[in-house]
Amino acid sequence: MVDKNDKSKVIIFDTTLRDGEQSPGMSMNLKEKIEMAKQLVRMGVDVIEAGFASSSPGDFQSVQTIAEKIRGCTIGSLARASSDDIDTAWEAVKSAEGPRIHLFLATSDLHMQYKLKMTREEVLEQAVLMTKRAVGYCSDVQFSAEDATRSDMGFLATVVRAVIAAGAKTVNLPDTVGYATPEEHEAFFREIQKRVPELESVVLSSHCHNDLGLAVANSLAAVRGGVRQVECTVNGIGERAGNAAMEEIIMALYVRKNLFGVTTNIDTTEILRSSSLLTRITGVKVQPNKAIVGENAFAHEAGIHQHGVLAKAETYEIMTPASVGRKASNLVLGKHSGKHAFRNRLSELGYAMQGEELDAAFRQFKELADRKKQVYDKDIEAIVAKEAVQVPKTFTLSNYVINSGNTITATATVSMNRDGRLSEKVARGAGPIDAAFKAIDKIVGGQFELEDYQISAVSEGEDALGDARIVLKSGSGGTFSGRGLSTDIIEASIKAYINAVNKMYYEEMRHE
Ligand code: KIV
Ligand code: ZN
Repeated sequence: MVDKNDKSKVIIFDTTLRDGEQSPGMSMNLKEKIEMAKQLVRMGVDVIEAGFASSSPGDFQSVQTIAEKIRGCTIGSLARASSDDIDTAWEAVKSAEGPRIHLFLATSDLHMQYKLKMTREEVLEQAVLMTKRAVGYCSDVQFSAEDATRSDMGFLATVVRAVIAAGAKTVNLPDTVGYATPEEHEAFFREIQKRVPELESVVLSSHCHNDLGLAVANSLAAVRGGVRQVECTVNGIGERAGNAAMEEIIMALYVRKNLFGVTTNIDTTEILRSSSLLTRITGVKVQPNKAIVGENAFAHEAGIHQHGVLAKAETYEIMTPASVGRKASNLVLGKHSGKHAFRNRLSELGYAMQGEELDAAFRQFKELADRKKQVYDKDIEAIVAKEAVQVPKTFTLSNYVINSGNTITATATVSMNRDGRLSEKVARGAGPIDAAFKAIDKIVGGQFELEDYQISAVSEGEDALGDARIVLKSGSGGTFSGRGLSTDIIEASIKAYINAVNKMYYEEMRHE
């Protein structure tokens, strides 16, 4: 939990489930959000912004469930500076171990004039009134001055002073449109503290967007400028070009502790797992050369570099792969391994599975071990992550037959069960996968379209496990990602498609 008095620590405020999730293609269902939240706690984040409770009934339910289920960190909900939003945010977070209401109101002339259509006086009054309303519910209130970096410094200082007097315990000054540069951002935070000495008694926070590719640099500059809370997201997901990437901030503070002189509560060895879990849930991969979590972040290709690293790792490595949770891919189990060995390996990898969840994962492992000679940690993690976010299976695959070749039109026959009833359809397509998807569409009916499809190998070797990711867009505009694993890429693709369809049905049923 947050220790607001420990000034040697920077509080890590994760907004993957709010600012991250609201960006296109990143939507997650309730189970996925809970799984992500559990991993964030395992990693040691201090605050989880679980969503924006008043933005939709689904968001409200997600925030409320996370507040009820997740322990070990502060859980917040975003709220506009309006009575309804604040009441709803409190209703959603009140059962958390440490609830937080995070209200925001824009302070730049541009936003006030064109978006809010409010004068400075009205904004000041509303900020104070709504902060007091939130404080009436909750002792942990955060106020964000949206577009702070493009606000008039004098007016911003007045608002900050007023919301502190009204009871805000954290003041966040976002670079909402990613406009700042590092030197400027450090000076900005120094200046506001000079003008508002009361900031000494609360937590000052930064929230940077990446429109100019400077979100991490600006967040680090903010730390140099005296902020004690940094808002960020896993893999840097978020509005437009994204938010500041948590893994990069954490490792910069860790590797260059001599420069920053602060630490965090984060267990850095959980970084890669958090990144991979998010990728698996959303289906959106990070670029191979992405700092810290990219596939090539620790790969040394040049001979001279390899030689240096072998002689002494520090020649070309400023941090070890192990420090971010990257392990050498190792052979773990085979087809003769039993459930006991499987469970032991899972717990060594940090997963505590039991009951039906464990049985389902073990069944998948056995199927895989029958088809694949060597089962790696990565394969097991892929199975586990998929099982953990499983939704009710409205549709299940019974069997499929595909006829395809370079001189004929591909034809697929797919049989699926829906609540015990078998249905079979035939379709032709531009290739075997297209034909299979069209046959599934005929069985499922409904309004949705394929938005994205990717396939990759989980581990090495000719018999590698294929990992298919599908994103479907429903008629109502929601996106649903599905995953399928198999050593056969057509089967992996079909499974992924059905998984995405099941998520769409699960979400629709939840709303009904
Ligand atoms: O970017 C921003 O200004 C925000 C606020 C709502 C905190 O996300
Ligand atoms: Zn933001």
